[in-house]
Amino acid sequence: MTQDAALVLVSNRGPATFEDGEPRRGGGGLVTALTGLVHHRAAVWVASAMSDGDVSVSREHGGGSFEIELDDARYRIRLVESNPEAYELFYNVVANPMLWFIQHYLWDLSNAPDIRRHEVEAYEHGYCAVNQDLARAVLEEVEGEREAVVMLHDYHLYVAPKMIRAARPDVFLHHFVHIPWTQPDAWRVLPADMREGIYEGILSNDIIAFHTRSYRRNFLLCCRELFDLEVDEQAGVVRFEGRDVWVRSYPLPISAAMFRNTAQRPAVHQYEREILRRRRKHLILRVDRADLSKNVLRGFTAFDLFLEQHPEFKENVTFIAHLIPSRQDVPEYAEYLERIEALAAVVNHRHGTTDWMPIDLRLRENLEEAIAAYKHYDLLMVNAMFDGMNLIAKEGPLVNERNGVSLLSENTGAHEELADFALSVNPFDVQEQADAIYRALSMSAEERSWRAQGLKRIVTARDPGDWVDDQLADIEAKRRGEAPARS
Ligand code: F6P
Repeated sequence: MTQDAALVLVSNRGPATFEDGEPRRGGGGLVTALTGLVHHRAAVWVASAMSDGDVSVSREHGGGSFEIELDDARYRIRLVESNPEAYELFYNVVANPMLWFIQHYLWDLSNAPDIRRHEVEAYEHGYCAVNQDLARAVLEEVEGEREAVVMLHDYHLYVAPKMIRAARPDVFLHHFVHIPWTQPDAWRVLPADMREGIYEGILSNDIIAFHTRSYRRNFLLCCRELFDLEVDEQAGVVRFEGRDVWVRSYPLPISAAMFRNTAQRPAVHQYEREILRRRRKHLILRVDRADLSKNVLRGFTAFDLFLEQHPEFKENVTFIAHLIPSRQDVPEYAEYLERIEALAAVVNHRHGTTDWMPIDLRLRENLEEAIAAYKHYDLLMVNAMFDGMNLIAKEGPLVNERNGVSLLSENTGAHEELADFALSVNPFDVQEQADAIYRALSMSAEERSWRAQGLKRIVTARDPGDWVDDQLADIEAKRRGEAPARS
């Protein structure tokens, strides 16, 4: 793609959310990924106006794009306002939980979901309506542009590509899915019309991208099993409505330079002093959104079991759990957070003493505080049930200064890259996780160092620039009519 071809990024959450006109960095892995992308290549970033503050700022700019400066970088963004009721249905009924739960195998199918008129209407008047709003904004951004490339992101936007293609078949459409793609039966939860709408939408892209080979395989399998489409698994191509849709995988790296910079901020040093002052002999850390897929409860249960089976560690270990409350308008998330607090209290009550609290639960978003803890953990727990990539598994080893060990779920995208140097666990097996905690905290210094160096080597081998370049090279190759690289 030529350097002056217009590039439009589209995601539900933008790089910043506004409060009283002031930008604050948007959270989550997707924002980290796209921030890397806009550092590399000039682009306009179209996102939903998610808060009242976002809506005011969007209106101040007449709904058009504008520049902001955040964390030493400049962005051109456009915040798209939707009808509040439509947005509520889009975000809190369809995207989360419906699609998120399907794509992380979270539904407890004997109990939920019940699909009623409300859910179907939420899809039509919420999900499709918000996708339409974003598609309209994209179409305005590419007006008069030749060779424009639109890169859509994630599960919020599955139907927008069809809307864009209908109006502008010349625009190149690329869609990155940052979460797992589950196997065919998981999708049978959706009514047939909705399921078809979603697949027709995403198959309107020219390239569909995932973090791992296994999600890519699942997607191809779904196309064949659910819709009887012609699929070339080796080449990663689905034939749809007379077009070849490429399906690729590009594992997302982190920006070591950006992270190391942040790790040097004075506020980080301040938090480090506090951690060092209070630390016991061993420190276990987890940093997550308080999301059901992250498997926080089994992590605490494993720690509980570990303390019970290895009482010699009592008073010698603290488990800091930095959990960022998330999607609290979805009842399942609010209830999950309550269960997390209750279980932490039980474990603390069972093992704690007057001056030792085994689990230190920190329910807030504070990047600097989390990075300070990254530097000093002995064990990083990433035990997600299913997770698209999990950047914590990469960020932690990058800045850790104690040869900390990683306990890593085999169902995270990061596991495809880090398995050789992490302690792999089945996220449902709490005994295995308790054993892994013991193994990590009693591991020889040599083994810790070997593992930590291995992880550092992998997470610094590539950066988001490489990730973007690989995707742009495929866009270029497809545009030139080349065959996809086989894998
Ligand atoms: O890819 C998943 C994702 O979109 C990531 O950005 C992040 O982990 C999370 O979901 C953010 O969720 P939300 O925008 O709902 O807070």
